[in-house]
Amino acid sequence: MPTSPTQIQLIEPDDWHLHIRDGEIMKDVLRDTARQFARAIIMPNLNPPITTVDLATAYHARIQAQLSALGVDHFTPLMTLYLTDNTCVQEVSKAKAAGIAAFKLYPAGATTNSDSGVSDIKHCYAVLEAMQAVGMPLLVHGEVTHPEVDIFDREAVFIDQVLEPLRKYFPELKVVFEHITTLQAAHYVRDAATGGKNTLAATITPQHLLMNRNAIFAGGIRPHHYCLPVLKREKHRVALLEVASSGNPRFFLGTDSAPHSKGAKETACGCAGCYSAFNALGLYAEAFESVGKLDKLEGFASFFGPDFYSLPRNSKKITLVKRPQKIPMELPLGDSTIVPLRAGQTIAWSLD
Ligand code: NCD
Ligand code: ZN
Repeated sequence: MPTSPTQIQLIEPDDWHLHIRDGEIMKDVLRDTARQFARAIIMPNLNPPITTVDLATAYHARIQAQLSALGVDHFTPLMTLYLTDNTCVQEVSKAKAAGIAAFKLYPAGATTNSDSGVSDIKHCYAVLEAMQAVGMPLLVHGEVTHPEVDIFDREAVFIDQVLEPLRKYFPELKVVFEHITTLQAAHYVRDAATGGKNTLAATITPQHLLMNRNAIFAGGIRPHHYCLPVLKREKHRVALLEVASSGNPRFFLGTDSAPHSKGAKETACGCAGCYSAFNALGLYAEAFESVGKLDKLEGFASFFGPDFYSLPRNSKKITLVKRPQKIPMELPLGDSTIVPLRAGQTIAWSLD
């Protein structure tokens, strides 16, 4: 029988895929993340996107200003650049020197603010070559966008049409397959031959470990369960949870917490994104506990991410306790509000 402790200690975790937006609302979402995580990979899909080191430096300064305003001095934002068809090769060495953590590939039109994304990965080959040479990771939103491909198949088709050819062409490029949602992606990352090198990993969100696509349609349409890549069938959720809780260092935590106001979600054409930052760690603990693998949470949440990015592991410890916590129906978001994942429900695990 799996053991079910009521309290677990872990080295402080990091979030390897996070959207914090900009301006007034940034403060509200940063507060939630900084409570649980020491560092986070900050996604560059602002409008306009963060495409250059200069834009990332200015964005970093705005984040630091908000952290200071919150009185937070223990949280490190890790900056990324948004790859476009026109990214200059010179930007790669500049980024490396500036401490940019990674470049992000959004296929054009794949998700929120991805209109300036890459129309054909071949346009980026010179940049990818330079990234491979300096060890700059490429983070991929792994979905094709051709309208003829069914939305539930976009990730699996991306593996065959884009990811596998890309990895063949750039075998030393460090690639993170972001927010994977399918059995195909889980097994591709698990089984890929990397010649013993640390060149392939995947992040997994709490919603994809806890829910399947029925959650989008449970008794009516549930806009707060709509994110991209969209939730899949139960067999995919099971496969994701299996690899996440297996202790395999290729899989680590990335919430993809993607804040959109209540109004932008509850409308005729609602935005994609789940807001999990409020209690992401508690949600991951629930998922791991459901398969009796709480002992594997620390590797997934706190070790494998920094190991992949060649960053030091954190040293402080945090404690998660099994103490029911009611999630509010709404939280403040600038002059609006946001509906967190599990709004109005009670969750079992929270930070001590
Ligand atoms: C993200 C967002 O809103 O920025 N949305 C989402 O559903 N995950 C973009 C993304 O990561 O796809
Ligand atoms: Zn995202």
